[in-house]
Amino acid sequence: MTSGHDHHDEHHDHHDEHHEHHEHEHGHGNAHDRGWRGSLRYARLLAKMWRSPVSDAVVALVAARPGERLVDIGAGMGPATVAAAKTGATVIAVEPTPFMRRILRTRRLWQRARSRITVIDGAAEAMAIDDASVDALWAVNVMHHWTNLDAAVHEIHRVVRCGARVYLVDEDFDDPGHPLFEEMRARRAQHHHAFDDIDPHDVAARLQSLGFTSSTGSFEHIAGRPAKVVRGIS
Ligand SMILES: C[S@@+](CC[C@H](N)C(=O)[O-])C[C@H]1O[C@@H](n2cnc3c(N)ncnc32)[C@H](O)[C@@H]1O
Repeated sequence: MTSGHDHHDEHHDHHDEHHEHHEHEHGHGNAHDRGWRGSLRYARLLAKMWRSPVSDAVVALVAARPGERLVDIGAGMGPATVAAAKTGATVIAVEPTPFMRRILRTRRLWQRARSRITVIDGAAEAMAIDDASVDALWAVNVMHHWTNLDAAVHEIHRVVRCGARVYLVDEDFDDPGHPLFEEMRARRAQHHHAFDDIDPHDVAARLQSLGFTSSTGSFEHIAGRPAKVVRGIS
C-alpha cells in the first residue's frame, strides 16, 4: 500500500535536495523547477499558489465523500489538497519539486485534517500508488508541466479504480480573457513547458482509448477563468 512508498519517499527527499541540478528525467518534473532559482520563482508566487479559486472549484467538482482516496497530481503548495482533506477523504499529494513538497509538508502540519494528507515525491508520469486504488484524481495547472503525455495518461489509468472521477484542469493563460493574460505571457516566455499548448480533446481521447467509460475535453470557464478541462470516468 502507499504507506510503504510514503515512508520510502521521506528518506529520498534528503537525497533529492542534494541532486536538484540533475538534468530532467521523466517522472521527476521539470529541471527549471528545481534548485534555488526554481525555489525563488515559486516563493514569489506564494500568495497566488496558497489558495486558488480554480482549485476550490475543482475540489467542488470532485465532490469527495468521507473515506474516499483521492490524488492531487502536482499538488504544489496544496490549495486543493487541504480543501479536499476537509471533506473527510484522504488525499495523496504527488509533487516532484522538493521546494514545493517542503512547503506542503509544513502546511500539512497546521491542518486539522493532517492525518488524512500524505505528501509523496512523484510526477504524473510515475506515481508510487497502487494499481486501481484511487476513487478520484485531479491536476490543476499541471498538464502543461508534464514531460511525457503518453506516460502520464497511462499512469492515471493505472492508479484509478473502475468508476473513478478524473479532472484535469489547466487555466488557459493564452486566452486574452484571462485576468492574468499579460502577466503570465511575460512569465511563460521565460519558461518553456513541454505542453504549453496542451489540447484537452487530445488528452480526453487518449484516456478514452485506454478504456475510460467516458472522457471529454473542453475549453470552458472554471471559477470564472478560461480553462482547458478534461473530465473522465474510468
Ligand atoms: C503551476 S503549479 C500548480 C500547483 C497546484 N496544483 C496549484 O494549483 O496551485 C505546477 C506544479 O506542478 C508540478 N509539476 C511539474 N512537473 C510535474 C509533473 N511532470 N507531474 C506532476 N507535477 C508536476 C510543479 O512542481 C508545481 O508544483
